[in-house]
Amino acid sequence: MKKDFIAVKDLSAQEIESIFSLAKELKKDRLKYGDALKGKSVALIFQKPSNRTRVSFEVGVFQLGGHTIYLKPEDISLGVRESIKDVAKTLSRYLDAIVVRTFAHDIVLELAKYSSIPVINGLSDLLHPCQALSDVFTIKEKVAKLNNVTLTYVGDGNNVCHSLLYTAVKIGMNMRIATPKRYVPNKEVLASALDIAKKTGSKISLFNDPEEAVKDSDVVYTDVWASMGKEKEVWKRKMIFGKYQINKKLLSLAKPSVLVMHCLPAHRGQEITDDVMDSPNSIVFDQAENRLHVQKAILLMLLGGNK
Ligand code: CP
Ligand code: NVA
Repeated sequence: MKKDFIAVKDLSAQEIESIFSLAKELKKDRLKYGDALKGKSVALIFQKPSNRTRVSFEVGVFQLGGHTIYLKPEDISLGVRESIKDVAKTLSRYLDAIVVRTFAHDIVLELAKYSSIPVINGLSDLLHPCQALSDVFTIKEKVAKLNNVTLTYVGDGNNVCHSLLYTAVKIGMNMRIATPKRYVPNKEVLASALDIAKKTGSKISLFNDPEEAVKDSDVVYTDVWASMGKEKEVWKRKMIFGKYQINKKLLSLAKPSVLVMHCLPAHRGQEITDDVMDSPNSIVFDQAENRLHVQKAILLMLLGGNK
């Protein structure tokens, strides 16, 4: 049966570990498994802009010997020109996998339901699983033991926050989340993460006060205040999120060795200041690089070829 990659919560801790060890191998030798996707084609259906996700998937598939087709919003007009179901059934006859970036998470689920080939979630309004896996892989490169780490996310309880939470609880990391009251993480995601945390021993704590949350943290993570699709709320959010900015003063409360993370694109001067983003504590471009290695490992897990 085909396997999709839609949410980190669907992976076992063992599968996450295997992806990380494969990504490590691929990072050492980018051309390893260079024939794994020979003769295979992967479509990227993107309804939102992208730098990292699009480029890292295109380069990654190429390095594994496969071919990509980028489909921008107006190319297939998913769900407008024809139904998601018909797109899924048609594309399954040509392709070997689909990466989709879209708005409503249900679009990803519907595409996966009617596709007979693996579907990878390249970001929905609810989740950004490829990002979170790469991020935790990046933390793992820098620390001795993941389950001693406290990861503190500061900002909007959005797709990136949700996927980080799923990844953290799956592997036993502790996570703190500081958001304004009306921007807390999604209730179902939180409930499901708490459920997983009971089994893995992760501690999840929610805060409204960023200073309290950041205190003694090992990793501090932020993302844009207004995600793609929320552009109309930019001004309103700028007023609400001001005190959630990651700046030197806030960061001074964390451990001196704190790692600073951002999925990018960053709005320098809003959710993160230049001096923090460019400081030696910042690992944002390691995160960006690791998207390539981790996604190649995900592709190999779903499409085989590295055996
Ligand atoms: N972090 C991330 O997904 O970047 P893009 O939106 O540029 O793909
Ligand atoms: N939360 C952001 C992540 C971008 C990679 C967004 O959805 O726009």
